[in-house]
Amino acid sequence: MDRELAMEIVRVTEAAAIASAQWMGRGKKNEADHAATNAMRKMFDSVNMAGTVVIGEGELDEAPMLYIGEKLGTGMGPEVDIAVDPLEGTTIVAKGHNNAMAVIAVADKGTLLHAPDMYMEKIAVGRKAAGKINIDDPIEKTIDIVAEANNKRIQDLTVIIQERDRHQEIIDRVRAKGARVILFGDGDVGASIATAFPNTGVDLFVGIGGAPEGVISAVALKCLGGDMQARLVPQSIEEEERCIQMGLHNPRQLLTLDDLVSGDDAIFAATGVSSGELLQGVRFLGGDLVETDSIVMRSKTKTVRFIKAHHHLEHKPHLIFV
Ligand code: FBP
Repeated sequence: MDRELAMEIVRVTEAAAIASAQWMGRGKKNEADHAATNAMRKMFDSVNMAGTVVIGEGELDEAPMLYIGEKLGTGMGPEVDIAVDPLEGTTIVAKGHNNAMAVIAVADKGTLLHAPDMYMEKIAVGRKAAGKINIDDPIEKTIDIVAEANNKRIQDLTVIIQERDRHQEIIDRVRAKGARVILFGDGDVGASIATAFPNTGVDLFVGIGGAPEGVISAVALKCLGGDMQARLVPQSIEEEERCIQMGLHNPRQLLTLDDLVSGDDAIFAATGVSSGELLQGVRFLGGDLVETDSIVMRSKTKTVRFIKAHHHLEHKPHLIFV
């Protein structure tokens, strides 16, 4: 992959974020998602690459755009796998809450796990605890390991967990161990990446969320020198079969960071839709001026760029939805 691709990909996440941000707080998550998907799909047309969607909006019969297997880009340039989440946090945008993002991961062809759309158990940490975690360890042991690696007392350690009934037991155990807990509503890509930015104060991410989000988060953590492990959690025989069809012969195998993204050249880009710990959301500054904050990073060089951009909607009428 050439490095220009990273900047091209940011233009795509910016477009998706601007489009979906216009739906913020309107109580319409499907419209917000559709606007992001539409804008993202259009922008991909101008990117020089021969991309194939491996994680997208669904199968061809359920998603007209950004479906699994869809070819993206001009066809010229590197052959790549693409994972998209045009709007990570549809409910967040509908409710006008924090932490929604437009997200894309790109990697050399054949290097991203073809994760089915089902639940996945995940654990993620930043650079200092990388290589030291095991998803099968009891949470109490993991807390000890991460506290030592991050040189923190257990009472200063922060674990981020999605607020769901399925996580109540783990929340209780983390609290009993004496660590601090941040409960977030939606958006586990941002929550897991927060572990790799020491200024967020987040040390450990644990819980069950979407498998597609898991693969996208893995690309980000690889770029940041962090670590992640995962395991699919099929909920039915059909989901088990789906895993096998997608090439995962043992659906419950432990997936390391390298199983989730096997190559050493991958790009992660995200643009904030609503403000969060890492990125501010889209700001409509008056007239046709719009400001966006994005992050783009590449695993090969570990360069992390934060990009603030000004856009004039007069020149982007296709992004005006509301
Ligand atoms: P959407 O953007 O598709 O609404 O997903 C938001 C999200 O919070 C993900 O970040 C997370 O992986 C998943 O939903 C968790 O699923 P559930 O809402 O079923 O607990």
